[in-house]
Amino acid sequence: MAPLFRRRANSLAVVILVGILALLMAISVFAYVVYRSPYQTDVGYAPAQPVPFSHQHHVGGLGLDCRYCHSGAETSDVAGLPPTLTCMTCHSQEWLNAEMLSPVRQSLANRTPLRWTRVHDLPDYTYFSHRAHVNNGVGCESCHGRVDRMPMTFQAKPLTMQWCLDCHRNPSPHLRPPEKITAMGYSPRRDGIAGERLIKRYRIHPDTLLECATCHR
Ligand code: HEC
Ligand code: HEC
Ligand code: HEC
Ligand code: HEC
Ligand code: HEC
Repeated sequence: MAPLFRRRANSLAVVILVGILALLMAISVFAYVVYRSPYQTDVGYAPAQPVPFSHQHHVGGLGLDCRYCHSGAETSDVAGLPPTLTCMTCHSQEWLNAEMLSPVRQSLANRTPLRWTRVHDLPDYTYFSHRAHVNNGVGCESCHGRVDRMPMTFQAKPLTMQWCLDCHRNPSPHLRPPEKITAMGYSPRRDGIAGERLIKRYRIHPDTLLECATCHR
């Protein structure tokens, strides 16, 4: 009787051990999923703004180009936000003097800029440049999503280091020709053939894009 009992105890111990291991693995997978979830990476973050500005209305509806308001995107590291005067080229007209635009009129009268709340914000120890991407075939949509469908601006991508590196490792499938940089709903060719041609055209060197000093300097 005794040996049989012992064998059973052994298999019971194995079952318990395997159970504990599986539980530990489940916990770490769960922790990783939470760590990488939109909650943790700020995907979907849409802070309240002083004026309920809608990209859906101004880009999707009126068809304004991004650079009309974010004029730094091609020439500097920051894309920048538009001065109140840019809004007033259209909103100085009487028929648009809605109550929700009163902060815009006040800003103009007092010569104080509107205080928009930042949607995207990388940590200070990372270096990012709009010019480097926008002039090398990476469209706004690749990093900001379908802005033309946003009544409220929200963060569409994780902006984690892993996310940056995923593209830097192999940028070609993401590249667009220069005239499509601000286009919304454009999909770069999946097969990467057009991408390979664009890599040459923009003279991109993916080999240095993974170096730490590219983004941490
Ligand atoms: C009529 C002016 C206007 C146009 C055109 C415009 N934007 Fe904006 N954009 C704004 C204003 C004002 C804000 C600040 C308020 C907000 O976040 O919604 C903003 C904010 C943003 C932000 C968030 C900035 C942050 O705080 O991190 C992104 C990203 C952005 N715009 C991308 C785009 C893209 C891409 C296009 C073209 C498809 C575009 N915008 C066209 C006016 C404009
Ligand atoms: C090219 C012209 C143009 C520019 C530039 C422009 N707007 Fe507008 N905006 C419009 C029009 C047209 C409407 C729709 C008005 C209506 O139907 O009553 C509108 C509507 C709005 C509304 C009402 C909410 C909505 O989206 O329907 C807000 C708020 C607004 N604009 C804010 C701004 C701000 C802030 C800026 C500057 C960053 C700006 N607009 C720049 C033309 C413009
Ligand atoms: C390669 C990814 C990428 C591309 C392409 C890109 N952006 Fe950005 N954008 C970012 C990141 C990351 C931030 C946050 C930067 C920071 O916090 O320093 C940002 C911030 C912004 C802001 C907030 C103000 C600023 O400049 O920091 C605006 C507005 C904006 N982007 C508009 C645009 C527009 C318009 C385009 C296309 C012409 C564009 N972006 C293309 C990644 C991108
Ligand atoms: C969708 C693709 C894509 C994404 C996402 C992306 N990049 Fe890039 N990045 C590029 C390409 C393409 C270049 C241009 C390379 C060249 O000039 O040879 C570039 C260039 C750069 C450069 C300039 C390198 C140099 O030596 O001039 C910096 C800095 C940079 N990226 C940082 C970032 C950071 C930080 C992020 C994430 C927040 C990011 N990038 C996300 C594609 C991307
Ligand atoms: C293409 C740009 C890019 C490159 C290349 C890059 N990083 Fe990062 N790194 C980032 C960004 C963006 C963040 C901020 C991530 C966030 O806020 O979630 C970051 C965050 C970090 C952090 C903070 C902890 C963390 O993981 O969030 C460390 C440490 C770090 N990077 C080290 C490195 C080292 C070491 C290298 C070289 C092997 C490197 N990075 C290369 C973009 C880059």
